[in-house]
Amino acid sequence: MSDKKLNLTLHIWRQKDKKTKGGFVKYRVTDVSVHASFLEMLDILNEQLVAKGEEPVAFDHDCREGICGMCSLMINGRPHGGKRATTTCQLHMRFYNDNDEIWIEPWRASAFPVIKDLCVDRTAFDQVIASGGFITANTGSAPDANDILVPKESADRAMDAAACIGCGACVAACPNGSAMLFVAAKLAHMHNLPQGQPERMHRTQSMINAMDAAGFGNCSNHYECEAACPKDISRDVMALANRDYAKASLAYRDRSNKSDGGG
Ligand code: FES
Repeated sequence: MSDKKLNLTLHIWRQKDKKTKGGFVKYRVTDVSVHASFLEMLDILNEQLVAKGEEPVAFDHDCREGICGMCSLMINGRPHGGKRATTTCQLHMRFYNDNDEIWIEPWRASAFPVIKDLCVDRTAFDQVIASGGFITANTGSAPDANDILVPKESADRAMDAAACIGCGACVAACPNGSAMLFVAAKLAHMHNLPQGQPERMHRTQSMINAMDAAGFGNCSNHYECEAACPKDISRDVMALANRDYAKASLAYRDRSNKSDGGG
């Protein structure tokens, strides 16, 4: 196994806090193993900065296994570095060459304000989930697997949608800053299963309205979200959400017409 080391030039967005204007700072990081992950490369940089008495670069991470969705870097203008179906923490330095220049920024979206350096505030996603990203049915203790039969195709679609880790790459990639792929994945996760049906219309309307209220832009079918998603969430989930949203809007309009005495 090669133990090749890389020396790299990094241009990293540094920003003291939400209110202060940020800018790129150039760093040289040396002796990075090609087996290191991208986040480990930043760890090496930070060790070198601390040794020189400089402030380390703040960046988000938690599991470092592609599960939690915390790592959120725009690398050379692409969310998570642009390698298909790969989170930043799973991106390895073997994809880079010695003496490469790499530009590293936080997600760019008005709904995700920068907190410090490369960390953004993704509370807006939590607000969308709080508006309906759950079921309220009392499910009791774990039922036997065969009690509620779910066709395999539906189970597969639900599992594919459930792969969304809520990292926000879809928002960062979208020219409109839309969160539609994220919201639609959460909806498709539940709406392909029997347990998601009772509140389906209300949930769809509530979560899409919460997305709008949180300041995300509208989807205009660029599909950059699908290309940037580290979990390969398909654009098909958005078609399902749009159909449900149209049905819910008609249903609620009819209901309010009736309560107003309309026909
Ligand atoms: S750190 Fe958890 S997905 Fe990257």
